[in-house]
Amino acid sequence: MIQTQDLTKIYGQLHAVSNLTLELSQGDLFGFIGPNGSGKTTTMRILATLLQPTWGEATVCGYSIYTHPKEIRRLIGYMPDFFGVYDAMKVIEYLEFFAAAYRIKGPARRKICSDTLDLVELGYKRDALVTSLSRGMTQRLGLARVLLHDPQVLLLDEPASGLDPRARIEMRGLLKQLRGLGKTIMVSSHILPELADICNKVGIIERGKLLVSANVADVMKQVRRCTLLNIRVAGKREVAAGLLEGHASVENVELRDGRIFATLAEDVEDYSDLPTLLIKAGCKLVEFKEDEINLETAFMALTKGITA
Ligand SMILES: Nc1ncnc2c1ncn2[C@@H]1O[C@H](COP(=O)(O)OP(=O)(O)OP(=O)(O)O)[C@@H](O)[C@H]1O
Ligand SMILES: [Mg+2]
Repeated sequence: MIQTQDLTKIYGQLHAVSNLTLELSQGDLFGFIGPNGSGKTTTMRILATLLQPTWGEATVCGYSIYTHPKEIRRLIGYMPDFFGVYDAMKVIEYLEFFAAAYRIKGPARRKICSDTLDLVELGYKRDALVTSLSRGMTQRLGLARVLLHDPQVLLLDEPASGLDPRARIEMRGLLKQLRGLGKTIMVSSHILPELADICNKVGIIERGKLLVSANVADVMKQVRRCTLLNIRVAGKREVAAGLLEGHASVENVELRDGRIFATLAEDVEDYSDLPTLLIKAGCKLVEFKEDEINLETAFMALTKGITA
């Protein structure tokens, strides 16, 4: 649905986006993660056909940004990071205004506007003035606005920024719901953990360069230089720890919170003989799992050295 090849935008000496190659399939919910100034907005504006790249290719739904911008605009919903709402307009009038701009007419317009308001849970605010909405409500109204023409692809630039934790969770729920409707979504954020649990793919961009782009599980694997096992045994904890420590696959063993944490040597992937070893020695194995890598740590590891 979205494809880019060596997409580049240069301002003077600055490579705002540098040889960005990306591919999103239908139904993907892609988290586009990067710190301030890394090129997220620039990339999204190029895909939304609002900005010309310096060089490189980009297609949305098979249409080239160079030759078919009109077709692309009809198929996408782009929510910018900042947008204004007009004074002295009711919420429903605001939506009807944009629906009219999309040439949605008559009773269909009324129905689409009401349905979209309900989808973003603003139905109860339909007669409120747009200027009276809170930040979170304004963000949801902005999202409603780009959904009116039922776009297949959504480009959402930091829809959760400035929202309180509850509103962030609600925004995530909304994104999941939109994905459920079959939309392809690219959503940017500074924060990896915020998106990792709802996205199926993530890309991490730093100074215009895409460092990683893969499905969430693979990204985690990439940052996990060695596996950490989280083990619980009933009784005889020290015995189990001693056995693990003596095994060639294990680099380090730690006893913490009533559990055993065993770090495997680098590149060890098959550790199936470890539980067998413990059980054979009479240890009562209660739990044996790979520890989830902390997402914040993952993000720091991935961007290490470049930000420093
Ligand atoms: N019109 C412009 N002229 C010159 N430089 C620009 C212009 N627009 C963006 N830049 C530069 O390009 C780089 C990327 O900016 P961009 O807005 O894409 O980053 P971002 O990842 O969206 O950042 P943020 O998280 O702060 O929104 C920045 O260094 C920015 O200063
Ligand atoms: Mg931005």
